Amino acid sequence: MLNQHPATARPLPIIEPFRIKCVDPIRVLSRAERERVLERAGSNLFRVPARDVLIDLLTDSGTGAMSSEQWAALMRGDESYAGAQSYYRFQHAVHELTGLEHAIPTHQGRAAEFLLFGACVQRGQLVPSNTHFDTTRANIEDRGAIALDLPCAEGLDTASSHPFKGDMDLVALERALVEHGARVPLVMITATNNAGGGQPVSLANLRALSQLCRRHGKPLFLDACRFAENAWLLKLREEGLAARTPREIARAMFELVDGCTMSAKKDGLANIGGFLALRDGALAERVRARMVVTEGFPTYGGLSGRDLDAIAQGLVEVLEPDYLDYRHASIRYVVDRLAAAGVPVVQPAGGHAIFLDAARFLPQLGWREYPGQALALELYLEGGIRACEVGSVMLARRDAAGAELPARHELVRLAVPRRTYTQSHMDYVIEIVRRVHERRGSVAGVRIVEQPAVLRHFGARFARVRAEISAAT
Ligand code: F0G
Repeated sequence: MLNQHPATARPLPIIEPFRIKCVDPIRVLSRAERERVLERAGSNLFRVPARDVLIDLLTDSGTGAMSSEQWAALMRGDESYAGAQSYYRFQHAVHELTGLEHAIPTHQGRAAEFLLFGACVQRGQLVPSNTHFDTTRANIEDRGAIALDLPCAEGLDTASSHPFKGDMDLVALERALVEHGARVPLVMITATNNAGGGQPVSLANLRALSQLCRRHGKPLFLDACRFAENAWLLKLREEGLAARTPREIARAMFELVDGCTMSAKKDGLANIGGFLALRDGALAERVRARMVVTEGFPTYGGLSGRDLDAIAQGLVEVLEPDYLDYRHASIRYVVDRLAAAGVPVVQPAGGHAIFLDAARFLPQLGWREYPGQALALELYLEGGIRACEVGSVMLARRDAAGAELPARHELVRLAVPRRTYTQSHMDYVIEIVRRVHERRGSVAGVRIVEQPAVLRHFGARFARVRAEISAAT
């Protein structure tokens, strides 16, 4: 394999298993220009125009590069309203991958969640998961139900190097099923666990979870956005899987569930799209009957025929061992170099992103000075890198009296788009993070000056708190 070398050989540099035939220029601004950009954006990186960003690590969702085979597939797109050939190619690809009989296309992952919960979740019910992604939680809460996160203990410890930090706490789940079983319509599991750092769910955990759900008569659904990265991490880490192909491991994961929601913007290697795949034909019919109102006819689900073809091809390419090996090697490379330089980074390396622990990076800042936001701004000022705060700006909770409570962690996510940046871009990222780390003592906190009522991280405006004030608190 391209990036695996015997321990005795001098390792070769990591190389991308592709060559480039189409380029997209990026431009570097001066520090003074970046200061002005941030000022105009109210120090919120979501408000920064993409052309003012040098390396964009805001998300790995829909930001990847398609292959020449995917671009060729676009030309085969059949734009018929009903029963397009593109739909049958898409359905075949999903069935080959998952074994799930009913593949329902959607415009992205959250639409699949909306359809699934719309068909089976009622007011007052409870939906457990290892950790629900924001949109999954929002779709459950929108039904008047409760989204319950039950991550394993190691998943909450940013310093733990446990290999399967995405696992679910099955003791807690069993307790919830015994106490509230009648209120639980289904169980979800997210692999990899995005909120927990792109950490994998082991096949052993998934197997035990599947048995537990069966014993309690509850259907189990996989949030499969990053199924291929999960399969690759299991191949590397889980006993007995080293000789299995990523496709076989992915298939073993899907065999344990009753259905999945999928954002093809991640491991579908597409720029848009998703699907809901189900075993239960009656449930699929219920979903298909409803989706015409909001998504479109069931054979296109809000996508164009060419999108369905790009996804069908992406689902095949994403499981190529050379691709997965390179993807993980390049993320691990950044994590290892940052850790060696003393930068607090979440271990072990996850599947799609590098997570900095901003609370340990900037210990002079209390949570009300939003260290994750302060660090993300600093990475932009230092080197034009756009990352995303995953801390008390995004995830603050409120107590019964409405007072703000801190998030569990103050993290900054550097999400790596698929097949988009090169190793030299990764070296640049490492150097910029190190430079900020070297002058971390002078980094000031931020305060919120304006915020929308919901999902405030997208629209809030911030002001820098003077360094001497933050040093005193
Ligand atoms: N589930 C997980 C685990 C996700 O990470 C996402 C999206 C979704 C569902 C929703 O999919 O965006 O296609 O509607 N995550 C993106 C991110 C937005 O940046 O992590 P979608």
